[in-house]
Amino acid sequence: VTVQHALLAAAETLRSAGVDSPRLDAELLLAHVLGVSRTQLLVHPEQELSEAQARAFEMHRDWRATRVPLPYLTGTREFFGRAFFVNQQVLIPRPETETLVEAVLGWQPPGFTAHPTLLDVGTGSGCIAISLALGLPGSRVIGMDLSGKALEVARRNADALGAARVELREARFPEGVEDLEEVLDILVSNPPYIGPDESLDLPPEVRDFEPQEALYAGDCGLEVIQSLLDNASRLLKPGGLLALEVGFRQAPEVLRRAQKAGLASPRAVRDLSGIERVVLAERPAQPRRSPEQPPNHA
Ligand SMILES: C[S@@+](CC[C@H](N)C(=O)[O-])C[C@H]1O[C@@H](n2cnc3c(N)ncnc32)[C@H](O)[C@@H]1O
Repeated sequence: VTVQHALLAAAETLRSAGVDSPRLDAELLLAHVLGVSRTQLLVHPEQELSEAQARAFEMHRDWRATRVPLPYLTGTREFFGRAFFVNQQVLIPRPETETLVEAVLGWQPPGFTAHPTLLDVGTGSGCIAISLALGLPGSRVIGMDLSGKALEVARRNADALGAARVELREARFPEGVEDLEEVLDILVSNPPYIGPDESLDLPPEVRDFEPQEALYAGDCGLEVIQSLLDNASRLLKPGGLLALEVGFRQAPEVLRRAQKAGLASPRAVRDLSGIERVVLAERPAQPRRSPEQPPNHA
């Protein structure tokens, strides 16, 4: 069987299985099985597959037809211009999360230190922590996750991508951060933010294969976000930044809760699809005068 025929047949199988981009997925899977780039594959459509290659490709095609996400089959996903290793222990990095990384890298308040300390809560594959560590060379970056298996993936990525200095710790936020009180310049997170009752709206790739603890949070998806808002002022230095990814239509509620938590200048940033995807706010620079204190007229 030739490359061209294998691709035609596989695209048909994947289309019938309800896969969104059947032809592209077939090409990427065959390129992965043959160990070549997609371009190399497409310039030789007449190339014959060996029996072993054809069998391996059919196996991958059949896995994809059961809706296993493509990056779990190829083991890689691009994020912020770098190839991250992924497996089923971690959420697959999403393009909208690049908006969060960009917003943090673009935050340069007057007098911003060249050696900031950052904490990434729910680091998963490490895509945010590692991209920030590489974008802020003088920084100390800590990634935390409740999943030890996810942290193994983050470690592998940090070492492979030249960010071995990223520190990783296993804990369930807000536990495990006692040493970071008023230490952080930036607290960043793409937390789980889907309400458990929204699971039926998700495509099978997400609902059936991505880690549950990466997707779902109580309080209609806002439980971990609320905990981040509640603890931000305790962990951030005065003037420090809280940067959160939030779900579709969650931004107005998160902005309201940020205000209520005493954070300054809550604002939303839109992703490339125009969706309010990131919420930014700072710990107020000066502790606010409590009402009991008389104003100082001296
Ligand atoms: C939406 S995923 C984000 C993964 C990665 N940062 C990204 O943007 O692709 C959320 C991650 O948070 C972790 N997590 C969920 N609740 C947590 C908590 N309370 N403390 C620490 N990690 C948590 C999950 O294990 C998962 O890896």
